[in-house]
Amino acid sequence: MIKIIGINGSARKGKNTAKMLQAALGEAKKLGCETELLELSDYRIHFCTGCNRCLKEHRCSQHEQDDMHKLAEKLLEAEGIIIGSPVYLDNVTGQMKVFMDRCRWLKMVKPLLCGKAGGALAHAALRNGGQELTNLAIVTFLMAHGLAVVGPIEEKGAMFPLGGVGSMFESQKGGKVTWKRSVEADEIGIETSKALGRNVARLAIRLSGK
Ligand SMILES: Cc1cc2nc3c(=O)[nH]c(=O)nc-3n(C[C@H](O)[C@H](O)[C@H](O)COP(=O)(O)O)c2cc1C
Repeated sequence: MIKIIGINGSARKGKNTAKMLQAALGEAKKLGCETELLELSDYRIHFCTGCNRCLKEHRCSQHEQDDMHKLAEKLLEAEGIIIGSPVYLDNVTGQMKVFMDRCRWLKMVKPLLCGKAGGALAHAALRNGGQELTNLAIVTFLMAHGLAVVGPIEEKGAMFPLGGVGSMFESQKGGKVTWKRSVEADEIGIETSKALGRNVARLAIRLSGK
């Protein structure tokens, strides 16, 4: 069976970014895929030490020191990878960046994730709070590993580039800003995530030939 995984870079399990990933994975499931949500906060991930061992062999010198090898196994067995991050200062979270750095061994000697399907999504407080830049950082990471990346654009419907985009912003009237309680109240956040999930699943099915 085709497997699609979601990876959440938030320190807050089950919150906005996780809900967007769940919405995306739910659509992949409807298309017959097996799905799994992985929360980076469940894993111990040390900083990359810059030892460059991964230039010579596809292995990380930290392999036995923390949980990163467990995540690498999940990445290797999946046909589709959706990465989600909250926006922290217009970019991915520190946790997500450390995860990305530690994935370097998966591409240096041989691009082990090449040919899989991928997608990005981001959640921020503000309406234009850095979701695009964050999605771009994720898309760049996925492309650097040779994944075929899709966004939430479908033949009919919403026209959003790059990835799923969620926000807490509700309105600003007379200088007073109001906020949504959660991404569940953000139609754009949920719909772009769902469309992304469908597109990643469809592409993964096509690419795998299964
Ligand atoms: C350190 C930090 C930096 C943040 N930077 C931004 C930002 O640049 N733009 C923005 O709109 N929201 C920013 N936020 C708000 C988060 O993106 C927002 O709360 C998001 O919903 C968190 O996702 P989560 O619920 O999945 O943890 C920041 C929050 C924190 C804690």
